[in-house]
Amino acid sequence: MDKIETIKKHVGDVVDPTSKKTLAESDGLKYVSIDDEKNTVNLVIGLEKVDDKIKQQVTRSVAKIIKLDLQYTGLKIDFQLLKLDESILNKERKVKYIGIASGKGGVGKSTVAANLALALSRLGKKVGLIDADIYGSSIPTIFDMEIVLPKADENEKIIPFVKSGIEIMSTEFFLKDDKPLMWRGPMLGKMLNHFFYDIAWSEELEYMLVDLPPGTGDVAMDIQKLIPESKMIIITTPHKSASHIAVKAGFAAKELNHELLGVIENMSFLRHNDENLNIFGEGGGKVVADRLETDLIGQIPIGQPKSGHHSLFDMHEEIGINYLGLANKLIKDLN
Ligand SMILES: Nc1ncnc2c1ncn2[C@@H]1O[C@H](COP(=O)(O)OP(=O)(O)O)[C@@H](O)[C@H]1O
Ligand SMILES: [Mg+2]
Repeated sequence: MDKIETIKKHVGDVVDPTSKKTLAESDGLKYVSIDDEKNTVNLVIGLEKVDDKIKQQVTRSVAKIIKLDLQYTGLKIDFQLLKLDESILNKERKVKYIGIASGKGGVGKSTVAANLALALSRLGKKVGLIDADIYGSSIPTIFDMEIVLPKADENEKIIPFVKSGIEIMSTEFFLKDDKPLMWRGPMLGKMLNHFFYDIAWSEELEYMLVDLPPGTGDVAMDIQKLIPESKMIIITTPHKSASHIAVKAGFAAKELNHELLGVIENMSFLRHNDENLNIFGEGGGKVVADRLETDLIGQIPIGQPKSGHHSLFDMHEEIGINYLGLANKLIKDLN
């Protein structure tokens, strides 16, 4: 029997104090790994009920097995609720993650993410939006949200905010804006872990859009790694000189086995007197898509919402319809 199996067999005999079932019976042993270097065991255990007393009790029983019987030096246990765990599993099966990435900032990544989320929602989909761009968080601003600390529910899960029917979470809600950028990076990177596992997203959620940090640096990549089985959209501008960095971002995503859904070229042209003016150059989106062997799935013109809102387009105006078309395509492609 290998080491993991041995641990599973022994820890499986531990009884959940609430249900009186063994972990083997309740399928409560959710995850086992061994850090050979540190001779430490990591476990995730699901219980019927979780409180401090129960945690202590189960930890004691498990520690006896791991440390005394099986002679490991260290033990780390994460507890979760069995029921909740099921719902998360269901959710993971159901929610489709779409990461929005770009080579550099300022190309409209957040604007596109927000308008796409809105378009999906207008098409009747249940949408979540995670603002994971720890360097230039702007989702709360785009949705005119007040920066207040989110509340937690009875299971200690953070309750997301809801704006225009979209469930939204951003690192911005956890920070006062006077923290230096250098400090924010690593700290927020850590926090993002919780965005995928400790937020009480509604169970009906179908699409989760993630506004990723631009670039291909360590932090950007670490955050991409957190997204389970994500599909990616790369945002670029039509400037050919800007395309190589967008291509790099695309390759980085591919390296993480994140399938590319396509490239969106933003600020493609300015519509003027029935003519398209290529103010920011031409062809960048196509170049990026070709290099990445994917499709150019959209070209968003330069423009401000007519509704008077600073970033979100109405579904009756041209760019809004553009986003609806894109959302429709995504729904088709992801089914
Ligand atoms: N198609 C567009 N036309 C005009 N302005 C745009 C367009 N897309 C984005 N912008 C503006 O460009 C700026 C940068 O966009 P943003 O979405 O914040 O970029 P990023 O998230 O890539 O840093 C914002 O002021 C935004 O309102
Ligand atoms: Mg942004």
